[in-house]
Amino acid sequence: TDPAILRNFCIIAHIDHGKSTLADRMLQLTGVVDERAARAQYLDRMDIERERGITIKSQAVRMPWTVTEGEQAGQTFVLNMIDTPGHVDFTYEVSRSLEACEAAILLVDAAQGIEAQTLANLYLALGADLHIIPVLNKIDLPSANPEKYAAELAGIIGCDPSEVLHVSAKTGFGVEELLNTIVAQTPPPVGDADAPARALIFDSVYDTYRGVVTYVRVVDGSLKHRDRIKMMSTGAIHEMLEVGVISPEPVKAGEIGVGEVGYLITGVKEVRQSRVGDTVTSAHHGATEPLGGYQHPNPMVFSGLYPIDGDDFSTLRDALEKLQLNDAALQYEPESSGALGFGFRIGFLGLLHLEIVRERLEREFNLDLISTAPNVVYRVVMEDGREIVVTNPSEYPTDGKISEVYEPIVSATILAPSDYIGAIMELCQTRRGQLGGIDYLSEDRVEIRYTLPMGEIMFDFFDALKSRTKGYASLNYELAGEQAADLVKVDVMLQGEIVDAFSAIVHRDAAYAYGVSLASKLKELIPRQQFEVPIQAAIGARIIARENIRAIRKDVLAKCYGGDISRKRKLLEKQKEGKKRMKMVGRVEVPQEAFIAALSTS
Ligand code: GTP
Repeated sequence: TDPAILRNFCIIAHIDHGKSTLADRMLQLTGVVDERAARAQYLDRMDIERERGITIKSQAVRMPWTVTEGEQAGQTFVLNMIDTPGHVDFTYEVSRSLEACEAAILLVDAAQGIEAQTLANLYLALGADLHIIPVLNKIDLPSANPEKYAAELAGIIGCDPSEVLHVSAKTGFGVEELLNTIVAQTPPPVGDADAPARALIFDSVYDTYRGVVTYVRVVDGSLKHRDRIKMMSTGAIHEMLEVGVISPEPVKAGEIGVGEVGYLITGVKEVRQSRVGDTVTSAHHGATEPLGGYQHPNPMVFSGLYPIDGDDFSTLRDALEKLQLNDAALQYEPESSGALGFGFRIGFLGLLHLEIVRERLEREFNLDLISTAPNVVYRVVMEDGREIVVTNPSEYPTDGKISEVYEPIVSATILAPSDYIGAIMELCQTRRGQLGGIDYLSEDRVEIRYTLPMGEIMFDFFDALKSRTKGYASLNYELAGEQAADLVKVDVMLQGEIVDAFSAIVHRDAAYAYGVSLASKLKELIPRQQFEVPIQAAIGARIIARENIRAIRKDVLAKCYGGDISRKRKLLEKQKEGKKRMKMVGRVEVPQEAFIAALSTS
């Protein structure tokens, strides 16, 4: 295909602002899919993605479009729509998929305005020199306020409010004009057709039947069927079994050239061998310079996963191996816990990634798992100069020879109505935040920037933010290095024995309150047993909180079943939930909730 008629673009949008609906509408208007198929939401693949309404894996669709108005009316172009993941955990994938495009549609709900993650992705797009096409969606809604939000968008990207397009992905209003605008405004790709091939991997997906399907954007040269190709970050060489484009089903092609977007199949079995951000070149006389720097995705959040039934350990190991086939960012290693037995310490890109992995393990592999409270990575420097990287709080050194502890920090951006500035600042202060600045986006909406310890926002920060702002605030954050901090390990003992899975690393000033609150939470969550269970929280040898779970006596049991309505109802509800997740820790039966009780203590 002649690069002059190619237009590569992506859509940047907040969850629920209508990206999938708009993508479907475009597929339908360009005749790529019919209306019924469009409704099945072509771009989202996995069940979980659809249920949660998020798009994790980016893909690309090729659409022919014959311009209907203006100077180019009647001419046919080839549009490649590249789907970007929108969530903060996947920033690296977002930034690489942006680099595969020349333009980005900034899609914003006309009743909501821009959200923090969208703003962050917009900055990434501007950083990648993309042309921005501002679009307000859901213009059909009675609550839409296009004047206000067009002015806001215009202010942010520096254009005139009249340049902001108005569409309704639902009714189709304005979508034809948008397609024409994409053709008119997106710069055609430039590249050197005679240079050695260079193609950017912006996605790779594991397919049970075909192995890894790698999505690429060719920058220079071309990739041909049967070529031998090289992954530049590893030097690994593969034979190309198939090359093609997606429209909306895969269509084989003899070759893809400058500016084209397509897929490759090489028969490799793991997405790790075909990583987002890497550059593909030819095995012979290939390019020497990769496109941009390749960045290895580093896990930022760790959690222990243990089978409830110890016999499931090998099933869990096999399941993790399988998940890793299509999740290059997933990292794990076996660990054992005094309390929980044999399991794995797993590294995730963020909390959403954690939830998705856990859910897939349980759903697709039918495993019952206990997960420990997630934690960030700490770097501990000892007085003798040794450095220890702590990914599990129970491994935190306690011999007193610590010289300095470093915790990861993030720079966070919060967008909210200005009425909530006070509430937001108060929340950030309690999380040890440092104010970076406040800017007005419009008369009544502000952007607030804070530097915060990552450990402080991992837990319930977003929920706390939402509840303090009646749901109006949005949050984005990115890793911003590390800082020295005065941290201590808080242990929890049941019946005098430390339960390693309950250990947590907290700031010294908050440790006492944390211990008291956790002990009382555990008292609530751990059911009464045949014997008394003392609970203690401690820093080293110093006990900072204690509680006692009294033993069940026959008459108490009778009374509670007979009289106490609320308790009885609770019991009934629990029975309804079906099999309850319990783990024997020593002699004590401990429910799953107890292991993550720490998440809601602050
Ligand atoms: P994710 O896939 O979760 O990122 O969401 P999305 O941004 O793709 O949003 P999606 O297309 O799923 O739309 C979210 C909701 O908004 C759905 O209920 C849509 O039906 C609705 N919606 C999308 N576009 C419009 C529109 O133009 N008008 C109205 N009224 N509703 C719309």
